[in-house]
Amino acid sequence: MTCETMKNIQSTEPDFTEPIVLELPSSSEYILLARLVVSCVGQLAEFEPEDVYDMKLAVTEGVTNVIRHAAVKSFHVEYRVLPRAVQVVVVDKGGGFDVGELAARPDEQGGFGLAVIRSLVDEVTVDSSSSGTRLKMIRRATVPE
Ligand SMILES: Nc1ncnc2c1ncn2[C@@H]1O[C@H](COP(=O)(O)OP(=O)(O)OP(=O)(O)O)[C@@H](O)[C@H]1O
Ligand SMILES: [Mg+2]
Repeated sequence: MTCETMKNIQSTEPDFTEPIVLELPSSSEYILLARLVVSCVGQLAEFEPEDVYDMKLAVTEGVTNVIRHAAVKSFHVEYRVLPRAVQVVVVDKGGGFDVGELAARPDEQGGFGLAVIRSLVDEVTVDSSSSGTRLKMIRRATVPE
């Protein structure tokens, strides 16, 4: 079934309240899967191709951070279609990090991922503690010219 067909079915009985949830092994092979779902939810949110592209990159950075830094076996990604917007939440139960300490970054060692995410999406919230990290991103659809 294509995303377009899904949209037609949903338009008869819209229910965008429930999130789409992916449980993914913490391995780089699954980044593609996390990106694919963005195309689909982006169509439902009436995204322009540029919106889909930017959100895919933001999701890639968020998911890559879990795989590289969280030291977990698996994690999950929640996608929610909002009115002309998409919310993606990346959740892991790893060791977390000190969000406040990132102020001095990025530098030559890296640390670009979260800065890139902030530049690509409209709202970013990072909650991190010793029991895990929750990265929430919201991107609103660009108004077509
Ligand atoms: N899910 C996470 N679990 C644990 N630590 C994290 C997580 N996400 C980010 N971090 C911490 O925040 C830091 C900054 O992340 P950021 O994506 O900005 O940079 P980076 O991953 O170090 O480098 P780059 O993304 O440029 O390759 C990371 O180095 C890591 O210490
Ligand atoms: Mg990163």
